[in-house]
Amino acid sequence: MLNERLDRATSSVLLRAMGGVDAPKKLAKALEYAVTPGGARIRPTILLSVAMACGDDRPALADAAAVALELIHCASLVHDDLPCFDDADHRRGKATVHRAYSEPLAVLTGDSLIVLAFDVLAEAAGKDADRALQMIRVLARRTGMPEGICAGQGWESEAQVNLSAYHRAKTGALFIAATQMGALAAGQEAEPWEELGARIGEAFQVADDLRDSLYDAETLGKPVGQDAAHGRPNAVTALGVQGAIRRLKDILGGAIASIPSCQGEAMLADMVRRYAERMTPVAPTLRQAAARH
Ligand code: IPE
Ligand code: IPE
Ligand code: MG
Ligand code: MG
Repeated sequence: MLNERLDRATSSVLLRAMGGVDAPKKLAKALEYAVTPGGARIRPTILLSVAMACGDDRPALADAAAVALELIHCASLVHDDLPCFDDADHRRGKATVHRAYSEPLAVLTGDSLIVLAFDVLAEAAGKDADRALQMIRVLARRTGMPEGICAGQGWESEAQVNLSAYHRAKTGALFIAATQMGALAAGQEAEPWEELGARIGEAFQVADDLRDSLYDAETLGKPVGQDAAHGRPNAVTALGVQGAIRRLKDILGGAIASIPSCQGEAMLADMVRRYAERMTPVAPTLRQAAARH
């Protein structure tokens, strides 16, 4: 149900952004390519789940927020894959945008998606200006400097990296935006929702580091071993595989405890438990990985 809601909201925004006959066709196609069919859509799903847990009294606002957040995420991946960052050839099981369309078009795709995200929220101000404005502030804070994805990617150019500040900005930021925008869309305060987003984001990054070191490229649909190849700080290097799994479980336990009281509290706790199961590598994968190393 959430997926259908997201698909519908995303397609109409995308169609508008792709423009008519007067818009450059390749860039229009590249925008569509970067956003659809999409990945796991975990951030907008969390956003809509929090909005629903808080009553979801303005569903159109929550939809706009979910689309805006996913557009920022897609933009961040397009830029992250560029040769000047991770130089990756595959994403979501297909060629990366710069590989399929060229580097200039990939830069412009990321830029256009970021601008589009904020336009979607500005348009939603027609439904509730106060809530939309607060969501714009949250999304801007978690996208740029000093605490957003830009800061996260910026850490990779520093000689000394603080692993938790790096992860919090690179990945945690958009999970914080997810929980806070979900609450704001439903008319709740953002602040009490920061910890839940931060904890899910931290767990997600530890799980991503585990996948990067344990899985193969075919299973993930993107290159593996990237952290080691680029010498990036990583939870597996810092804690070992078993240590990283223990850390993942601790963080998720704390995430459940941090859910603010609301009508859908039990539903959100179930959601975190389901993510915990999905994120933790299963025993056969660990055995295969141990045999490979
Ligand atoms: C990948 O995020 C980037 C990280 C922050 C680790 P996802 O794993 O959510 O990517 P998609 O959207 O499902 O492809
Ligand atoms: C991407 O991080 C996170 C962004 C902010 C774009 P990674 O570089 O670790 O993620 P993958 O492995 O390419 O998805
Ligand atoms: Mg990267
Ligand atoms: Mg990358």
